Amino acid sequence: MKKDLLTLWDLTKEDIVAIIKRGEEIKKGSLKSVKPLDGHTVGLVFDKSSTRTRVSFEVAIHKLGGSAIFLTPSDTQIARGEPIKDTARVLSSYLDGLIYRTYAQEQLEEFARWSSIPVINALTDLCHPCQVLSDLMTVDENRGNLDSLMVAWIGDGNNVANSWINAANILKFNLTMACPEGYLPNPDILANTSSNVKLVSTPQEAAANANVIYTDVWASMGKEDESEQRIEDFNGWQVNQSLIDLADKDVMVMHCLPAHRGEEITDEVMEGPKSIIFAQAENKLYLHQAILEKYLKFKVT
Ligand code: CP
Ligand code: NVA
Repeated sequence: MKKDLLTLWDLTKEDIVAIIKRGEEIKKGSLKSVKPLDGHTVGLVFDKSSTRTRVSFEVAIHKLGGSAIFLTPSDTQIARGEPIKDTARVLSSYLDGLIYRTYAQEQLEEFARWSSIPVINALTDLCHPCQVLSDLMTVDENRGNLDSLMVAWIGDGNNVANSWINAANILKFNLTMACPEGYLPNPDILANTSSNVKLVSTPQEAAANANVIYTDVWASMGKEDESEQRIEDFNGWQVNQSLIDLADKDVMVMHCLPAHRGEEITDEVMEGPKSIIFAQAENKLYLHQAILEKYLKFKVT
């Protein structure tokens, strides 16, 4: 039976560790000389903009010998109202897998329900599981392990934050989140957290002794009309050098990108010695190959 990656809860702790390790092996050259996706076609349907996720998945598919077809809503009949359940069944008869970025998680789930091919979440308003998998690979690569990890999330309780909560619940590392009032993570996801996930009221409390400081834009895609209000509401929630100084001496500063320098993070910190932000972006290429390998069910040793 086909499997989907709709949230991190589709994976066990063992699955996540195996995907991270496989991403690291692929980075070191495993899969380099094989074309396991030869004759396979993977679709990418993106209802929102993307630089990293789209290009890294497309290159990953090409590197593995497959073909990628990129579609925006205006290229398809989805924008003209064709039901997802019809589109999903038709695309399933042409494609071997689908990478889907959209707004509502329910839309992604509806697509997965009606499709007979694996469906991978490339970001929804609710979560961004592939992002957090490549982030975890980057942490593991830099630190050597994920043991006793203390992660601080500072800023908007958005889709990436929700996936970090899922990851902390599955892997049991410590996650301390500082989000302004009114910008907390999804209440259902928060309601089901274990005691290793904590909410605090200031960025300073979250940053204290952290091994990772993570932030993201204050206005995610779809929230652009709230930008001005959010800049006011997030005053004091910037990741800057004085916050980094409170963290562990080997702290890793992370951001999924795109970033708004001068808002959620300073240019100094982004370009500074603690930043692993561009390694995170690079690792999407390897981690996405590991995801394709797992979900499209080929295995090359
Ligand atoms: N981090 C991330 O998903 O970036 P894109 O929106 O460019 O894909
Ligand atoms: N939270 C951001 C992540 C972009 C990769 C957004 O949804 O716009």
